Amino acid sequence: MNTRHEVHGHIGHERADGSAIALTRLLELDAEVLASYLAELTARIAEVADRAPERILDLGSGPGTGTLALARRFGSATVTAADISPQMLHRLHKQAAAYGVAERVSTVEANLDERWTEIGEGGPFDLIWAAAFLHHVADPGATLAQAFEHLRPGGLLAVTEMDFFPRFLPRYAGVGRPGLEARLHAATNTQPPHEWTGPLQDAGFSVVERRPFEISLDSTQTGPVLNDYAQVCLTKLRSHATDVLDADDLAALDALLDATRPHSISRRDDLSVRTTRTTWIARRP
Ligand SMILES: C[S@@+](CC[C@H](N)C(=O)[O-])C[C@H]1O[C@@H](n2cnc3c(N)ncnc32)[C@H](O)[C@@H]1O
Repeated sequence: MNTRHEVHGHIGHERADGSAIALTRLLELDAEVLASYLAELTARIAEVADRAPERILDLGSGPGTGTLALARRFGSATVTAADISPQMLHRLHKQAAAYGVAERVSTVEANLDERWTEIGEGGPFDLIWAAAFLHHVADPGATLAQAFEHLRPGGLLAVTEMDFFPRFLPRYAGVGRPGLEARLHAATNTQPPHEWTGPLQDAGFSVVERRPFEISLDSTQTGPVLNDYAQVCLTKLRSHATDVLDADDLAALDALLDATRPHSISRRDDLSVRTTRTTWIARRP
């Protein structure tokens, strides 16, 4: 696997502490639990592509959940994974080796808010993938313009976003008042879903499709990893809830997150994951 370095300032942008580790764990659990969604999406890209992608760029790759899914789907493609975080790219290297695709994966450490000079060496690309990334950049229009430049004519851009944080609990979770998770989400998820159709068209893309993937899976479909995923997601929301939920709801949430308590998320068998991922597949004409 090759590693190229292109860090232009903003080195402190990534967090070299426990939060990078926590985010990595969340992203990897997310990909494991939602593996069927990733498989469906990459299969759809294969159907829409004018030919099998050979050169792929993963923007804001994180620990490489998309990189690995793409390397598996497109067995002869090379994938360039770009991210600002060296911790994420380090994890991606390890995962690519573990999955036996290291020779087809390279990483570029870069702030994608700036010019993508070194990334250009791996292009032009047949497919660019941006999962849970575009809303992070300073100027999405400028990012989409650079993606357009780095695609060959006929190449595809796939953008996907989590519309809202996943939900897991039944309405009555066995502790506190019914509707706890709904109140937690109402208090902490205050942003409207992202909408990229207009910005994609403004950048010159033709939008092939915009599709909300409605996901609803229980533990018979996901396996026990669902409990770990729910624990990590609800722990993250708990960290934003202190000032926005009342004391009864906070106590109920803490009881659910406590592995020693009877209704603990880590041990219950009535969880399901409900979420929506909206995906845009766009073509450079
Ligand atoms: C929510 S994570 C998504 C990771 C991955 N695409 C996934 O779906 O699992 C967002 C990623 O974007 C990266 N990122 C955010 N701003 C960036 C920037 N300006 N340049 C490069 N990477 C950036 C972060 O380091 C992080 O790995």
